[in-house]
Amino acid sequence: MTTAPEAEGSFGEQFIEEFDRLLRWRRDVRRFRTDPVEPRLIQEIVAAAELAPSVGNSQPWRWVEVRSPELRAVVKSTFARCNAEALEGYRGERAQQYASLKLAGLDQAPVHLAVFSEDHPQQGHGLGRRTMPETLAYSVVTAISSLWLAARARGIGVGWISIVEPDEVHRALGVPPGWRFVAYLCIGYPEEVNSVPELERAGWQARTDPETRYFIR
Ligand SMILES: Cc1cc2nc3c(=O)[nH]c(=O)nc-3n(C[C@H](O)[C@H](O)[C@H](O)COP(=O)(O)O)c2cc1C
Repeated sequence: MTTAPEAEGSFGEQFIEEFDRLLRWRRDVRRFRTDPVEPRLIQEIVAAAELAPSVGNSQPWRWVEVRSPELRAVVKSTFARCNAEALEGYRGERAQQYASLKLAGLDQAPVHLAVFSEDHPQQGHGLGRRTMPETLAYSVVTAISSLWLAARARGIGVGWISIVEPDEVHRALGVPPGWRFVAYLCIGYPEEVNSVPELERAGWQARTDPETRYFIR
């Protein structure tokens, strides 16, 4: 039996419930198992990300899978430097707490993916980004968000690392000058699953009341 196209494009209540559960159980993962993730699954989650919306349909995301141990070492060292500098900015109990946080799973994650935004993509012919060029980077973030969910649905964890010097990552990976660094993603099977963000469990920052962030004018 074939499914009518309009049925393929609609979603049942059970799916909606499961999708909401996926949103609740998506986590930023910093603690990975070291076993590999099948390349087919990585291709699937990147393919899912490629379906994201983008300004003018410009598809400005650029993915760089970092396999070289030497390049991974550069990323690790910029993370270590930036993390130490960040620690300097805290005092007292906060500093102690910051020092105890695990903010990257660079050593264990089997897959490293650097994500860039192309500043002047041919696609889209400039539509929509004249007044807001930053919409290109916003588009890349929507793609990362899709990748995050597609990964989690397959039992794979994603950890977003921003505690690095963007120029250093850019230089090390030798990408074109017009590519803007957006994210460094660690990808692999998580050591644990949890419905509560790790920073909340660590007492750093809990989720707060959404009502305080919704305004009507
Ligand atoms: C733009 C962005 C940058 C982030 N950078 C880092 C990072 O450098 N290190 C880290 O451990 N988590 C990082 N995170 C993850 C957040 O800490 C995490 O999303 C937040 O604590 C909520 O937890 P949850 O994602 O598990 O819901 C980043 C998340 C985003 C969206």
